[in-house]
Amino acid sequence: MAGRFPEVRPRRLRRTAALRRLVAQTSVRGADLVLPLFVKEGIPEPVPVASMPGVLQHTRDSLRKAAADAAEAGVGGLILFGIPAVKDGRGSAADAQDGIIQAALRDVAAEVGDDVVIMADLCLCEYTDHGHCGVLTPSGTVDNDATLERYAATAVAQARAGAHVVAPSGMMDGQVAAIRRALDEAGEPDVAICAYAVKYASSFYGPFRDAAEGAPQFGDRASYQQDPSAGDALREAMLDVAEGADIVIVKPALPYLDIVAQVAAAAPVPVAAYQVSGEYAMIEAAAAQGWLDRDRAIMETLTGIKRAGAGIILTYWAAEVAHHL
Ligand code: PBG
Repeated sequence: MAGRFPEVRPRRLRRTAALRRLVAQTSVRGADLVLPLFVKEGIPEPVPVASMPGVLQHTRDSLRKAAADAAEAGVGGLILFGIPAVKDGRGSAADAQDGIIQAALRDVAAEVGDDVVIMADLCLCEYTDHGHCGVLTPSGTVDNDATLERYAATAVAQARAGAHVVAPSGMMDGQVAAIRRALDEAGEPDVAICAYAVKYASSFYGPFRDAAEGAPQFGDRASYQQDPSAGDALREAMLDVAEGADIVIVKPALPYLDIVAQVAAAAPVPVAAYQVSGEYAMIEAAAAQGWLDRDRAIMETLTGIKRAGAGIILTYWAAEVAHHL
């Protein structure tokens, strides 16, 4: 009746919620989750991000509250993105002592202290008028080594403003080594580096570019972000580990779960996955149409990312999910 082995019935362990809970192997904890937060200089009120329902560009005040709420909910960390009022070719606001990201880091550090990990995204794309992640050569390509100097200065500014962790996301070669050296020389040896090590040139960053106002004004990021069909994930991850990365990020998450699993198996440091803006927007949009069950879809994707091997997940749902766990 039940096939050739009538005594073998996997369904026995699925019969009640208690049995399913007992045999569960993957669980998502609030402490695993990192909440990305956007703070914009010079706005009187928080501004909703149209392509990311529920996500705001914060004022300094509303950011403080959002950080306190997320810490209260039990998230593991926060990662801050700053949007300056004025942009220029070299992204001067990124490392300015009174720049928006530094001011926000000081605010959040005063609010949550060491209760939650404070991370700073470290890139130039929100700060440059051309929207690229680095400074440009006269011919308009991104100048790798000149950009490293900007990242080094930005890392030191962020560390001094209270970041526990800096998270370089610009995909320049040698960025982790340059930042580690700069932090150590500046007397900030305890500030950790969470490197966006494996970062694809992805269509799924679309909504983020509205939120962070960092879309490239010409060209694209394909000469520095990885090609989705390339095989360079482990090379990038291991280089960043060798250069001193304390945590490595794979990004995006859902279309790259094979990469998350490969990196988790190989890297001797914690591995994070970034469930990016497009992954968030897809589920929010489908749920708004009534096409899928939002809460179940969120937990299912987070469980899948965790099961693939990411111990840490950056997700715009971090505070909401942590609150319910
Ligand atoms: C900046 C940066 C991006 C994201 C995080 N840091 C955008 C990009 O590289 O184009 C994307 C995050 C998201 O889509 O949620 N370099």
